[in-house]
Amino acid sequence: MYCLLRPCFQTGLRLTSKIRLTYICIFISLIALLDFFGAFTHLFEITYDSNFVYPYEGDVHEFVNALRHNEEPAIKPINEYKYTFLLNNQQKCIDVAYSTFRVVYIVKSSIENFERRSAIRNSWGFEKRFFDVPLRTIFMLGLHPYDDELQAKVKIEAAKYKDIIQADFIDSYYNNTIKTVMGFKWLVKYCPNSKFYMFVDDDIYVSVKNVLRFIRNPVNYPDYLKEPKKIGFVFVSSPHRHKSSKWYISLSEYPYHLWPPYITAGAYILSKEALLDMYYTSLYTKHFKFDDIFLGIVAKKADIEPFHCEEFHFHKKDYTKFNYKYVITSHGYENPNELLTVWNEQKALGNA
Ligand SMILES: *[C@@H]1O[C@H](CO)[C@@H](O)[C@H](O)[C@H]1NC(C)=O
Repeated sequence: MYCLLRPCFQTGLRLTSKIRLTYICIFISLIALLDFFGAFTHLFEITYDSNFVYPYEGDVHEFVNALRHNEEPAIKPINEYKYTFLLNNQQKCIDVAYSTFRVVYIVKSSIENFERRSAIRNSWGFEKRFFDVPLRTIFMLGLHPYDDELQAKVKIEAAKYKDIIQADFIDSYYNNTIKTVMGFKWLVKYCPNSKFYMFVDDDIYVSVKNVLRFIRNPVNYPDYLKEPKKIGFVFVSSPHRHKSSKWYISLSEYPYHLWPPYITAGAYILSKEALLDMYYTSLYTKHFKFDDIFLGIVAKKADIEPFHCEEFHFHKKDYTKFNYKYVITSHGYENPNELLTVWNEQKALGNA
């Protein structure tokens, strides 16, 4: 018995410790995996509610008002992007015929996208689209980190078309907030004479006609809609805590479980008042690398409520000749030839 039992017992023992070790291994891996997917970060998130604060943690309206009136604010701005404009077409918004523009398009572009800019100038960015509607188109660029040849080409383009603004920060996805705010800064400084400002990426289809219709009466756009309109954008979305995500955000960067309402599309419109409030409020908003979220936070601090409209398509709206009638903007036009074809066809139909 003893002889028989002993080996069994020993094997058993070895087996249990092996199993135990395996369990510990699985357990540790599981914890690591959960951590990787952000499960623990979620546990420590703060509930997003009416107590939302984001540095600067106080009411900023008074400072914003002071700055708007060229007065000294009680607290100095906490986040100014002090980049220099290398290309600065200061004359762009000075026009003897018009003192006020209806819409100024400010297009977020990258140096290498020469053809996209050309397609935009020849389609929705064409400033003389309507003889009685003064429009302006401006491209906002950063710097290419190393390619001097591209820079030389852009300089020639800027001299020719006089519609390029460039500031001296490195152009990259994570610097989009800088690009946007430098755009705001330029507009506030050199182009305050427009009713509306439209911010658009360079891979977007825009129907100028529908933009103008929309700003005349946003609540009733398009007219055929009879059901109640969605006013106020209640888009519920939460930060990515998954560590491999392109959009990964740590708790120290942003502690809440939800984002403030924000506009997801690469296209949005601000009235002049909204532009001024957004710009000066941004100076009291801690830097955040994603520009759409940053603007959502700024809007929240400035008490500006994003207004939702279905016809700004975040994903590319599948194109047919007849389903773009009410489209205001659509993402997904990174091919300049496609933009030109679609836009010309819609223009011929009276939809662009
Ligand atoms: C953003 O631009 C600044 C200024 O040029 C640069 O120092 C920084 O490396 C850039 N950031 C990224 C993520 O490219």
